[in-house]
Amino acid sequence: MKPGNVAEYREAARRKLPAPFFHYIDGGADEERSLRRNSEAFGDIRFNPRTLADVSRIDTSTQLFGRDVAMPLYLSPTGMTRLFHHGKELAVARAAAEAGIFYSLSTMATTSIEDIAAASGGPKLFQIYIFRDRGLSREFVERAKVAGYDALALTVDTPVAGNRERDRRTGMTMPPRFGPESLLSFAMCPEWTFNFLRSPDFRLANVAHRVDALAGGAMGIIQYVNSQFDPAATWEDAAWLVREWGGRFIVKGVQSVEDAVRAKAIGATGIMISNHGGRQLDDVPAPIELLRPIRDAVGPDMELIVDGGVRRGSDVVKAVCMGANACSIGRPYLYGLAAGGQKGVASVLSIFRSEMERTMTLLGRTDIASLDESAIASIGA
Ligand code: FNR
Repeated sequence: MKPGNVAEYREAARRKLPAPFFHYIDGGADEERSLRRNSEAFGDIRFNPRTLADVSRIDTSTQLFGRDVAMPLYLSPTGMTRLFHHGKELAVARAAAEAGIFYSLSTMATTSIEDIAAASGGPKLFQIYIFRDRGLSREFVERAKVAGYDALALTVDTPVAGNRERDRRTGMTMPPRFGPESLLSFAMCPEWTFNFLRSPDFRLANVAHRVDALAGGAMGIIQYVNSQFDPAATWEDAAWLVREWGGRFIVKGVQSVEDAVRAKAIGATGIMISNHGGRQLDDVPAPIELLRPIRDAVGPDMELIVDGGVRRGSDVVKAVCMGANACSIGRPYLYGLAAGGQKGVASVLSIFRSEMERTMTLLGRTDIASLDESAIASIGA
Protein backbone atom coordinates (compact mmCIF):
# COMPACT_ATOMS: atom_id res chain seq x y z
CA MET A 1 0.00 0.00 0.00
CA LYS A 2 1.27 3.49 -0.86
CA PRO A 3 2.38 5.38 2.26
CA GLY A 4 -0.18 8.00 3.30
CA ASN A 5 1.75 10.01 5.88
CA VAL A 6 5.32 10.79 6.92
CA ALA A 7 5.47 7.98 9.48
CA GLU A 8 4.51 5.46 6.78
CA TYR A 9 7.17 6.89 4.45
CA ARG A 10 9.68 6.44 7.27
CA GLU A 11 8.80 2.74 7.44
CA ALA A 12 9.02 2.44 3.64
CA ALA A 13 12.49 4.05 3.75
CA ARG A 14 13.54 1.62 6.49
CA ARG A 15 12.65 -1.30 4.20
CA LYS A 16 14.46 0.16 1.16
CA LEU A 17 17.73 1.32 2.71
CA PRO A 18 20.72 -0.56 4.06
CA ALA A 19 20.66 -0.07 7.84
CA PRO A 20 23.68 2.30 8.07
CA PHE A 21 22.01 4.77 5.69
CA PHE A 22 18.53 4.57 7.22
CA HIS A 23 19.94 5.23 10.69
CA TYR A 24 22.18 8.00 9.37
CA ILE A 25 19.00 9.80 8.27
CA ASP A 26 16.81 8.79 11.18
CA GLY A 27 19.14 9.14 14.16
CA GLY A 28 20.02 11.99 16.49
CA ALA A 29 22.68 12.90 19.04
CA ASP A 30 23.32 11.31 22.44
CA GLU A 31 20.02 10.23 24.08
CA GLU A 32 18.01 11.57 21.11
CA ARG A 33 15.86 13.57 23.52
CA SER A 34 15.93 16.68 21.32
CA LEU A 35 15.15 14.58 18.27
CA ARG A 36 11.99 13.29 19.95
CA ARG A 37 11.09 16.59 21.62
CA ASN A 38 11.25 18.50 18.31
CA SER A 39 8.15 16.59 17.12
CA GLU A 40 6.44 16.08 20.47
CA ALA A 41 6.44 19.82 21.21
CA PHE A 42 3.98 20.32 18.34
CA GLY A 43 1.60 17.95 20.10
CA ASP A 44 1.50 20.26 23.13
CA ILE A 45 -0.09 23.05 21.06
CA ARG A 46 -3.85 23.12 20.68
CA PHE A 47 -5.95 24.97 18.13
CA ASN A 48 -8.83 27.40 18.64
CA PRO A 49 -11.06 26.51 15.65
CA ARG A 50 -13.84 28.71 14.24
CA THR A 51 -16.79 27.30 12.33
CA LEU A 52 -19.26 28.47 9.66
CA ALA A 53 -16.52 30.65 8.17
CA ASP A 54 -16.94 29.97 4.40
CA VAL A 55 -14.02 27.64 3.90
CA SER A 56 -14.96 26.72 0.35
CA ARG A 57 -11.62 28.07 -0.95
CA ILE A 58 -8.29 27.55 0.81
CA ASP A 59 -5.12 29.31 -0.33
CA THR A 60 -1.76 28.18 1.12
CA SER A 61 0.37 30.44 -1.10
CA THR A 62 2.74 32.98 0.45
CA GLN A 63 6.06 34.78 -0.10
CA LEU A 64 9.42 33.63 1.15
CA PHE A 65 12.95 34.97 0.64
CA GLY A 66 11.63 37.29 -2.08
CA ARG A 67 9.78 34.65 -4.08
CA ASP A 68 6.15 33.58 -4.41
CA VAL A 69 5.76 30.03 -3.09
CA ALA A 70 2.88 27.58 -3.05
CA MET A 71 2.98 26.93 0.70
CA PRO A 72 4.94 27.99 3.79
CA LEU A 73 7.14 24.91 3.70
CA TYR A 74 10.48 24.08 2.08
CA LEU A 75 13.26 21.52 2.02
CA SER A 76 16.22 21.88 4.41
CA PRO A 77 19.75 21.17 3.19
CA THR A 78 20.94 17.60 3.67
CA GLY A 79 24.31 16.18 2.65
CA MET A 80 25.33 12.97 0.88
CA THR A 81 21.96 12.40 -0.77
CA ARG A 82 23.36 9.93 -3.33
CA LEU A 83 23.54 7.38 -0.52
CA PHE A 84 19.76 7.39 -0.19
CA HIS A 85 18.70 7.20 -3.85
CA HIS A 86 20.36 7.27 -7.26
CA GLY A 87 18.16 10.24 -8.23
CA LYS A 88 20.13 12.18 -5.58
CA GLU A 89 19.66 15.97 -5.14
CA LEU A 90 18.34 16.39 -8.69
CA ALA A 91 15.26 14.33 -7.86
CA VAL A 92 14.63 16.36 -4.72
CA ALA A 93 15.15 19.75 -6.39
CA ARG A 94 12.83 18.83 -9.25
CA ALA A 95 10.09 17.69 -6.87
CA ALA A 96 10.43 20.95 -4.92
CA ALA A 97 10.23 23.04 -8.11
CA GLU A 98 7.13 21.15 -9.23
CA ALA A 99 5.51 21.76 -5.86
CA GLY A 100 6.38 25.47 -6.09
CA ILE A 101 8.58 25.60 -2.99
CA PHE A 102 12.22 26.33 -2.08
CA TYR A 103 14.90 23.68 -2.33
CA SER A 104 18.09 24.07 -0.25
CA LEU A 105 21.33 22.61 -1.55
CA SER A 106 23.94 21.59 1.05
CA THR A 107 27.66 22.27 0.71
CA MET A 108 27.97 18.53 1.43
CA ALA A 109 25.73 17.59 -1.51
CA THR A 110 26.52 14.97 -4.11
CA THR A 111 25.32 17.28 -6.92
CA SER A 112 26.96 20.58 -7.80
CA ILE A 113 25.60 24.10 -7.37
CA GLU A 114 25.61 24.48 -11.15
CA ASP A 115 23.94 21.15 -11.98
CA ILE A 116 21.04 21.92 -9.63
CA ALA A 117 20.62 25.37 -11.18
CA ALA A 118 20.58 23.83 -14.67
CA ALA A 119 18.04 21.16 -13.71
CA SER A 120 15.58 23.23 -11.71
CA GLY A 121 14.11 26.66 -12.36
CA GLY A 122 12.42 26.68 -8.95
CA PRO A 123 13.35 28.88 -5.98
CA LYS A 124 16.70 27.83 -4.53
CA LEU A 125 18.85 28.43 -1.49
CA PHE A 126 22.47 27.42 -1.01
CA GLN A 127 23.74 26.35 2.43
CA ILE A 128 27.28 27.21 3.38
CA TYR A 129 29.65 26.85 6.33
CA ILE A 130 32.50 29.08 7.46
CA PHE A 131 35.60 27.20 6.40
CA ARG A 132 39.13 27.59 7.78
CA ASP A 133 40.04 28.50 4.23
CA ARG A 134 37.95 31.66 3.81
CA GLY A 135 38.72 31.46 0.09
CA LEU A 136 36.55 28.31 -0.08
CA SER A 137 33.60 30.14 1.53
CA ARG A 138 34.10 33.07 -0.84
CA GLU A 139 34.25 30.72 -3.82
CA PHE A 140 30.89 29.19 -2.85
CA VAL A 141 29.32 32.64 -2.51
CA GLU A 142 30.48 33.54 -6.02
CA ARG A 143 29.30 30.26 -7.53
CA ALA A 144 25.86 30.55 -5.91
CA LYS A 145 25.56 34.15 -7.18
CA VAL A 146 26.50 33.23 -10.73
CA ALA A 147 24.12 30.26 -10.69
CA GLY A 148 21.23 32.50 -9.63
CA TYR A 149 20.42 31.18 -6.16
CA ASP A 150 17.82 33.30 -4.34
CA ALA A 151 19.27 33.09 -0.84
CA LEU A 152 22.26 31.94 1.17
CA ALA A 153 21.97 30.07 4.49
CA LEU A 154 24.92 29.89 6.88
CA THR A 155 24.84 26.86 9.19
CA VAL A 156 26.19 27.82 12.61
CA ASP A 157 25.41 24.79 14.80
CA THR A 158 28.19 22.51 13.55
CA PRO A 159 31.59 23.57 14.96
CA VAL A 160 32.07 19.82 15.47
CA ALA A 161 29.85 16.91 14.42
CA GLY A 162 27.32 15.75 17.05
CA ASN A 163 27.66 12.42 18.84
CA ARG A 164 25.42 10.16 16.77
CA GLU A 165 25.66 6.78 18.39
CA ARG A 166 23.52 4.89 15.88
CA ASP A 167 26.22 5.69 13.30
CA ARG A 168 28.91 4.21 15.55
CA ARG A 169 26.85 1.05 15.99
CA THR A 170 26.10 0.61 12.26
CA GLY A 171 29.66 1.46 11.23
CA MET A 172 28.61 4.67 9.43
CA THR A 173 31.89 6.24 10.50
CA MET A 174 34.85 7.72 8.67
CA PRO A 175 36.14 5.51 7.22
CA PRO A 176 33.08 3.19 7.30
CA ARG A 177 33.38 0.10 9.49
CA PHE A 178 30.40 -2.00 8.46
CA GLY A 179 30.16 -5.15 10.59
CA PRO A 180 28.38 -8.38 9.62
CA GLU A 181 24.91 -7.07 10.50
CA SER A 182 25.32 -3.95 8.38
CA LEU A 183 26.76 -5.93 5.49
CA LEU A 184 23.81 -8.31 5.70
CA SER A 185 21.47 -5.31 5.45
CA PHE A 186 23.05 -4.44 2.07
CA ALA A 187 22.21 -7.94 0.87
CA MET A 188 18.63 -7.48 2.10
CA CYS A 189 18.24 -4.34 -0.04
CA PRO A 190 18.99 -5.64 -3.56
CA GLU A 191 17.33 -2.71 -5.35
CA TRP A 192 19.49 -0.14 -3.57
CA THR A 193 22.63 -2.25 -3.98
CA PHE A 194 21.93 -2.88 -7.69
CA ASN A 195 21.44 0.83 -8.34
CA PHE A 196 24.59 1.71 -6.45
CA LEU A 197 26.73 -0.83 -8.27
CA ARG A 198 25.27 0.37 -11.59
CA SER A 199 26.21 4.01 -10.94
CA PRO A 200 28.45 4.40 -7.88
CA ASP A 201 28.66 8.16 -8.43
CA PHE A 202 29.07 9.16 -4.80
CA ARG A 203 31.00 12.41 -4.84
CA LEU A 204 30.87 15.60 -2.76
CA ALA A 205 30.37 17.51 -5.98
CA ASN A 206 30.88 21.04 -4.65
CA VAL A 207 34.27 20.46 -3.12
CA ALA A 208 35.70 17.61 -5.18
CA HIS A 209 37.75 19.90 -7.41
CA ARG A 210 39.50 21.31 -4.34
CA VAL A 211 40.81 17.94 -3.34
CA ASP A 212 41.47 16.29 -6.65
CA ALA A 213 45.08 16.52 -5.69
CA LEU A 214 44.45 14.52 -2.53
CA ALA A 215 44.38 10.77 -2.91
CA GLY A 216 41.79 8.80 -0.97
CA GLY A 217 38.57 9.15 -2.98
CA ALA A 218 35.26 10.03 -1.33
CA MET A 219 36.46 9.42 2.21
CA GLY A 220 39.46 11.66 1.68
CA ILE A 221 37.11 14.40 0.56
CA ILE A 222 34.78 14.03 3.54
CA GLN A 223 37.74 14.11 5.89
CA TYR A 224 39.06 17.17 4.10
CA VAL A 225 35.74 19.01 4.37
CA ASN A 226 35.28 18.14 8.04
CA SER A 227 38.77 19.34 8.76
CA GLN A 228 37.78 22.60 7.05
CA PHE A 229 34.91 23.47 9.46
CA ASP A 230 36.31 26.32 11.49
CA PRO A 231 35.59 26.09 15.24
CA ALA A 232 37.18 29.53 15.64
CA ALA A 233 34.45 31.19 13.54
CA THR A 234 32.65 34.18 15.12
CA TRP A 235 29.82 36.59 14.35
CA GLU A 236 32.39 38.83 12.62
CA ASP A 237 32.93 36.05 10.07
CA ALA A 238 29.16 35.74 9.59
CA ALA A 239 28.95 39.53 9.07
CA TRP A 240 31.69 39.24 6.44
CA LEU A 241 29.64 36.60 4.58
CA VAL A 242 26.54 38.81 4.75
CA ARG A 243 28.54 41.53 3.01
CA GLU A 244 30.09 39.16 0.44
CA TRP A 245 26.67 37.77 -0.48
CA GLY A 246 24.71 41.05 -0.49
CA GLY A 247 21.28 39.38 -0.78
CA ARG A 248 18.82 37.40 1.35
CA PHE A 249 20.89 35.85 4.12
CA ILE A 250 19.62 33.25 6.58
CA VAL A 251 21.39 32.07 9.72
CA LYS A 252 20.59 28.37 10.19
CA GLY A 253 20.92 26.81 13.62
CA VAL A 254 19.92 29.67 15.93
CA GLN A 255 18.81 28.21 19.27
CA SER A 256 18.63 31.20 21.59
CA VAL A 257 17.08 34.66 21.73
CA GLU A 258 20.56 36.15 22.16
CA ASP A 259 21.82 34.65 18.90
CA ALA A 260 18.65 35.69 17.08
CA VAL A 261 19.27 39.30 18.10
CA ARG A 262 22.90 38.94 17.02
CA ALA A 263 21.85 37.57 13.62
CA LYS A 264 19.60 40.56 13.09
CA ALA A 265 22.38 42.95 14.13
CA ILE A 266 24.79 41.62 11.46
CA GLY A 267 22.19 42.15 8.73
CA ALA A 268 20.76 38.65 8.29
CA THR A 269 17.28 38.79 6.76
CA GLY A 270 16.13 35.44 8.10
CA ILE A 271 16.70 32.80 10.75
CA MET A 272 16.18 29.07 10.64
CA ILE A 273 15.41 28.26 14.27
CA SER A 274 16.97 24.82 14.32
CA ASN A 275 18.91 22.29 16.37
CA HIS A 276 19.94 20.45 13.20
CA GLY A 277 17.07 18.01 13.69
CA GLY A 278 18.42 16.91 17.10
CA ARG A 279 21.69 15.79 15.51
CA GLN A 280 24.05 18.19 17.31
CA LEU A 281 23.59 19.35 20.93
CA ASP A 282 21.05 17.21 22.81
CA ASP A 283 18.70 18.67 25.46
CA VAL A 284 18.05 21.97 23.75
CA PRO A 285 14.57 23.47 23.29
CA ALA A 286 12.49 22.35 20.33
CA PRO A 287 12.54 25.01 17.57
CA ILE A 288 8.77 25.57 17.91
CA GLU A 289 9.29 26.38 21.61
CA LEU A 290 11.74 29.16 20.70
CA LEU A 291 9.55 30.73 18.06
CA ARG A 292 7.49 33.14 20.18
CA PRO A 293 10.39 34.55 22.25
CA ILE A 294 12.52 34.97 19.11
CA ARG A 295 9.68 36.68 17.21
CA ASP A 296 9.17 39.02 20.18
CA ALA A 297 12.90 39.85 20.23
CA VAL A 298 13.51 40.42 16.49
CA GLY A 299 10.23 42.11 15.56
CA PRO A 300 7.86 41.47 12.67
CA ASP A 301 10.17 41.91 9.66
CA MET A 302 12.73 39.14 9.97
CA GLU A 303 11.84 35.91 8.22
CA LEU A 304 11.62 33.12 10.81
CA ILE A 305 11.66 29.46 9.88
CA VAL A 306 10.89 26.58 12.24
CA ASP A 307 13.18 23.72 11.24
CA GLY A 308 12.96 20.37 13.04
CA GLY A 309 10.30 17.85 13.99
CA VAL A 310 7.73 19.01 11.42
CA ARG A 311 5.84 15.86 10.43
CA ARG A 312 2.30 17.05 9.61
CA GLY A 313 0.68 19.88 7.72
CA SER A 314 -0.95 20.84 11.01
CA ASP A 315 2.54 21.43 12.50
CA VAL A 316 3.21 23.98 9.74
CA VAL A 317 -0.12 25.69 10.39
CA LYS A 318 0.66 25.91 14.12
CA ALA A 319 4.08 27.47 13.47
CA VAL A 320 2.65 30.06 11.06
CA CYS A 321 -0.09 30.95 13.57
CA MET A 322 2.62 31.52 16.20
CA GLY A 323 4.71 33.87 14.06
CA ALA A 324 6.78 31.77 11.64
CA ASN A 325 7.01 32.69 7.96
CA ALA A 326 7.46 29.02 7.10
CA CYS A 327 8.69 25.62 8.28
CA SER A 328 11.34 23.45 6.73
CA ILE A 329 11.79 19.70 6.71
CA GLY A 330 14.77 17.36 6.43
CA ARG A 331 14.01 13.73 7.23
CA PRO A 332 10.45 13.63 5.82
CA TYR A 333 11.60 14.29 2.25
CA LEU A 334 14.59 11.98 2.61
CA TYR A 335 12.22 9.17 3.63
CA GLY A 336 10.18 9.97 0.50
CA LEU A 337 13.30 9.98 -1.66
CA ALA A 338 14.57 6.66 -0.30
CA ALA A 339 11.15 5.08 -0.72
CA GLY A 340 10.34 6.33 -4.21
CA GLY A 341 12.84 8.79 -5.71
CA GLN A 342 11.41 12.03 -7.13
CA LYS A 343 7.86 10.61 -6.97
CA GLY A 344 8.36 9.78 -3.30
CA VAL A 345 9.45 13.35 -2.51
CA ALA A 346 6.53 14.72 -4.54
CA SER A 347 4.15 12.47 -2.64
CA VAL A 348 5.47 13.64 0.75
CA LEU A 349 5.02 17.26 -0.36
CA SER A 350 1.50 16.65 -1.58
CA ILE A 351 0.66 14.97 1.75
CA PHE A 352 1.90 18.07 3.59
CA ARG A 353 -0.10 20.31 1.30
CA SER A 354 -3.37 18.43 1.67
CA GLU A 355 -2.88 18.13 5.45
CA MET A 356 -2.30 21.87 5.60
CA GLU A 357 -5.40 22.58 3.53
CA ARG A 358 -7.58 20.26 5.61
CA THR A 359 -6.28 21.78 8.85
CA MET A 360 -7.01 25.31 7.62
CA THR A 361 -10.49 24.25 6.51
CA LEU A 362 -11.29 22.73 9.89
CA LEU A 363 -9.79 25.74 11.66
CA GLY A 364 -11.95 28.20 9.72
CA ARG A 365 -8.92 30.06 8.31
CA THR A 366 -8.77 30.35 4.53
CA ASP A 367 -5.39 31.90 3.78
CA ILE A 368 -1.93 32.37 5.28
CA ALA A 369 -2.67 35.97 6.37
CA SER A 370 -5.55 34.70 8.53
CA LEU A 371 -3.26 32.32 10.46
CA ASP A 372 -2.45 34.22 13.64
CA GLU A 373 -2.35 33.79 17.40
CA SER A 374 -6.16 33.81 17.57
CA ALA A 375 -6.07 30.31 16.06
CA ILE A 376 -4.07 28.93 19.02
CA ALA A 377 -5.97 27.97 22.20
CA SER A 378 -3.23 26.83 24.52
CA ILE A 379 0.26 25.42 24.83
CA GLY A 380 1.33 22.91 27.45
CA ALA A 381 1.48 19.19 28.07
C1 FNR B 1 20.92 17.20 7.85
N1 FNR B 1 21.00 18.55 8.16
C2 FNR B 1 21.96 19.35 7.54
N2 FNR B 1 22.00 20.69 7.78
C3 FNR B 1 22.89 21.48 7.15
O1 FNR B 1 22.89 22.70 7.39
N3 FNR B 1 23.79 20.95 6.26
C4 FNR B 1 23.82 19.62 5.97
O2 FNR B 1 24.61 19.17 5.14
C5 FNR B 1 22.89 18.77 6.65
N4 FNR B 1 22.88 17.42 6.42
C6 FNR B 1 21.89 16.63 6.97
C7 FNR B 1 21.81 15.27 6.63
C8 FNR B 1 20.77 14.49 7.13
C9 FNR B 1 20.69 13.05 6.74
C10 FNR B 1 19.80 15.06 7.99
C11 FNR B 1 18.63 14.25 8.53
C12 FNR B 1 19.87 16.39 8.34
C13 FNR B 1 19.97 19.17 9.04
C14 FNR B 1 18.75 19.60 8.22
O3 FNR B 1 19.08 20.68 7.38
C15 FNR B 1 17.58 20.05 9.11
O4 FNR B 1 18.03 21.05 9.99
C16 FNR B 1 16.94 18.92 9.91
O5 FNR B 1 16.87 17.73 9.16
C17 FNR B 1 15.53 19.33 10.35
O6 FNR B 1 14.95 18.38 11.16
P1 FNR B 1 13.92 17.25 10.63
O7 FNR B 1 12.97 17.90 9.66
O8 FNR B 1 14.77 16.22 9.98
O9 FNR B 1 13.27 16.80 11.89
